[in-house]
Amino acid sequence: MSAQESTPAQTVESTDLVEGILVEEISKFKENSQIGFYRRQKLLHPGKSPYVAQLDSLRIEKGIAKFNIIHQETKVLLQVQVIATKGNILRFKINEVSPLRSRYEVPDVLVEEPATERFLLLEKHAGTAVLEHSHGSCKVHISSQPFSVLVTQEDKALIGINSEGFLYFECLQPPPEKSKLDEPDTDRLQNDSEDVFGLWEEKFGDFVDIKANGPSSLGLDFSLYGFENVYGLPEHADTHRLKDTRENEAYRLYNLDVFGYPVYSKMGIYGSVPLLLAHKPSHTCGIFWLNASETLVEVNCKATLQSPLNLTTPDIKKQKAIPKMDIRWMSESGIVDVFMLLGPSPQDVFSQYAQLTGTQSFPPLFSLGYHQCRWNYEDEADVEAVDSGFDEHDIPYDVIWLDIEHTDGKKYFTWDPVRFSDPVRMQEKLREKRRKLVVISDPHIKVDPTYSLYAEAKDKGYFVKDRKGQDFEGTCWPGVSSYVDFTNPVAREWYASQYSLDKYKDSTDILFVWNDMNEPSVFHAPEMTMPKDAVHHQGWEHRDLHNMYGFYQQMATSKGLIQRSGGKERAFVLTRSAFAGSQRYGAIWTGDNKAEWDYLKISVPMLLSLSVAGISFCGADVGGFIGDPEPELLIRWYQAGSFQPFFRGHAKIDTKRREPWLFGEDNTRLIRKAIQERYTLLPYWYLLFYKASRSAEPVMRPLWAEFSECQDALAVENQYMLGNALLVAPVLEPGVTSLDILFPGTGEYWYNFRKYARIRGPSRQEVTVTMEEIPVFQRGGSIIPMQTTVGKSSAWMEDSPYELHVALDSKDLAVGELYVDDGHSMKYLHEYKYIHRRFTFSGNVLSSRSADKEGQFSVDHILEKVLILGLKKSPSEVTVYCSGGQKTTEFIYNSQLCLLNLEKLALQVNSDWEIHIK
Ligand code: GLC
Repeated sequence: MSAQESTPAQTVESTDLVEGILVEEISKFKENSQIGFYRRQKLLHPGKSPYVAQLDSLRIEKGIAKFNIIHQETKVLLQVQVIATKGNILRFKINEVSPLRSRYEVPDVLVEEPATERFLLLEKHAGTAVLEHSHGSCKVHISSQPFSVLVTQEDKALIGINSEGFLYFECLQPPPEKSKLDEPDTDRLQNDSEDVFGLWEEKFGDFVDIKANGPSSLGLDFSLYGFENVYGLPEHADTHRLKDTRENEAYRLYNLDVFGYPVYSKMGIYGSVPLLLAHKPSHTCGIFWLNASETLVEVNCKATLQSPLNLTTPDIKKQKAIPKMDIRWMSESGIVDVFMLLGPSPQDVFSQYAQLTGTQSFPPLFSLGYHQCRWNYEDEADVEAVDSGFDEHDIPYDVIWLDIEHTDGKKYFTWDPVRFSDPVRMQEKLREKRRKLVVISDPHIKVDPTYSLYAEAKDKGYFVKDRKGQDFEGTCWPGVSSYVDFTNPVAREWYASQYSLDKYKDSTDILFVWNDMNEPSVFHAPEMTMPKDAVHHQGWEHRDLHNMYGFYQQMATSKGLIQRSGGKERAFVLTRSAFAGSQRYGAIWTGDNKAEWDYLKISVPMLLSLSVAGISFCGADVGGFIGDPEPELLIRWYQAGSFQPFFRGHAKIDTKRREPWLFGEDNTRLIRKAIQERYTLLPYWYLLFYKASRSAEPVMRPLWAEFSECQDALAVENQYMLGNALLVAPVLEPGVTSLDILFPGTGEYWYNFRKYARIRGPSRQEVTVTMEEIPVFQRGGSIIPMQTTVGKSSAWMEDSPYELHVALDSKDLAVGELYVDDGHSMKYLHEYKYIHRRFTFSGNVLSSRSADKEGQFSVDHILEKVLILGLKKSPSEVTVYCSGGQKTTEFIYNSQLCLLNLEKLALQVNSDWEIHIK
């Protein structure tokens, strides 16, 4: 029995392909109890924090409140900083007053150093001090003994800090004996209980983590008063609403390559965004824990009978029993740097988070179409055959993908000389079809001195080092590999430059990139990732920044693609691993799922959790990566995927081929229908991404974020909103003939998206379902832009006329927008080359006006059709007013459905017009 087999850890199957041989192997990942810093922190008992605030040290410097806290037993001093950050955000930092050496403070995630606003010292008595934000929006009550903080808004308790007494901070110490660090002393670790807490060495299976800097863990608890529902913390294959962790594992944020991850698990998978959101009808707030080391988060829902903290403020003392959520964060290293996003609305929290970490990058239009991937499309002929297959079967698609086998021996930036002997020819054929190519580029670089990329990176010192200062070598697809140190800005620059058209041989500007295995995945290594004692730029240990490795690779790749066009074109980069801020660099997908119903079902909460954590451009492998989906599952997955932001079919190397036309005529028809519907809705998708990039509105939204007052929406994760106008209820189980659907919102109208029948909210209704499509409803009060005809790809639809679906609310009103630009360049940003229209339906007049003055894009797009849903009576006349004059127009009115249909309008999208209905 190997040491790994003896580890009582979660077991999942893993597959690796080394030198072309498929090897099934069992990989093991840690449970909480196998994590040293977790065991150490769990020794703390709730209630009595050993820390005391020295309020006589409290001072306000440039508006920032600073004071020391002391550990009563060890007498170690920590400094606390409380910073009022612009936009109703409170930042809280704790670090050692005089650390032995610097501790890691996460760089590059915040878009800029947040602007601070001033704190005023309102009062200071023995044992307490109260700070007030200069704009008066919140107060910070500091209690000295034990140290705790209460944030109040309008004198109501909102967030308690260290109220459970879990502040934990391991100060850096000199090593006990230098000699112990030279070699791992496995015997000592096995036999001696001295280091059971993994202070200087920590064992897992066969692996020993040598901690050159010793223990450096930290933790803190937050009590969210009045809240019972929390969300966020992606990435986990678990429910959208976070679960109480008392009986179970804590949520683990540690980026790992977990092939076929188990569903409904809190184990760490590919990405980590340490953002938690709390929501109740009257308030939404967030906690952003800016730490890139391994992190565990406990969630406890409790009721509190006491007033929060022992504050003397009378209005706080009056508080009655209220629910509260206790959130305890524990990280392996770094400092405490936490942002409290005070809301109060869901959109305020999304904006506050985006103000810190940026918004979703605005993707090129093609990337919102359908992507066809497989590990692997074999050769150029295969690519051509699949490409033609889409045309033959009249199915639109935008991008074909090449996985690792397209390279020469898994050496990225190269091509297999036999299978892809003329990559430029292949790309030119795709270009003619107005389609794109995406190729994979992983962070591991094959150790091969004849491989110029390797030789250059080695020579320049751009690889991550092992703890002895040699280039770290681990195994991945190519065999023994080194890993680019993307944390080094110079190495990033170098890596970005590899994507320039002259460097990347046989690449063209229709080639875009997929960064995979960037947790990073390292076979036969602890938990299949880079050992924590590996060393990065400026001597930081991998443990300090593990969760940011993939973030940095995608950052460099996206920069490379933008640079290759001289800054003119938008990039498209898909990443598997992500961190806070990854939204700035492209899309993410949920990795190696299985072709099973459970994985289709879990894709929805997984994508919702990513979306509320800023990553709007997300998707799951359609069909399931591992295994062969039965046709019903495949169809349901296409139908669901067509209403998810990143829409890509993908399959593992050993699965049966599953291009959409391989399952019989009727199934092909159903898949075609789902993909075509996606394409008719591209104008709406594009608008949603424009708004996400501009104002941080998530593209895919949980119902609670859109209907914040609706109690029934709090736990819904089988339905969601796309933007504010479409309610989507995917079919997530086999054999479904009806779905119980929640129609939220008091007095809201909901219209069947395809059949137009109206339903009134709030209600629950059993809706009949067939194999034809999944239920989708348009919200009354919205106007959705669509296109009337689909093309072979999004680029073929440039001239496709537009169509508006106007759905009236109970007051016979509706509003909507349309955003159009060239679909690929930066001109929308630098030269205002775009059309942004606002449509309003009011007083029986539908009008189109410019939504902002700056846009100036001249194209001849035509609005051909308008559907008005919910119009109560048949008009006697419909008149169109536009720059060319006025004319009456024909119409068809369906009195049963209250539907007015206007066709052949031929209105210029880019000009003002009105349609009057009499
Ligand atoms: C990983 C990826 C998968 C890809 C495969 C080969 O398993 O998650 O999508 O096809 O590697 O590159």
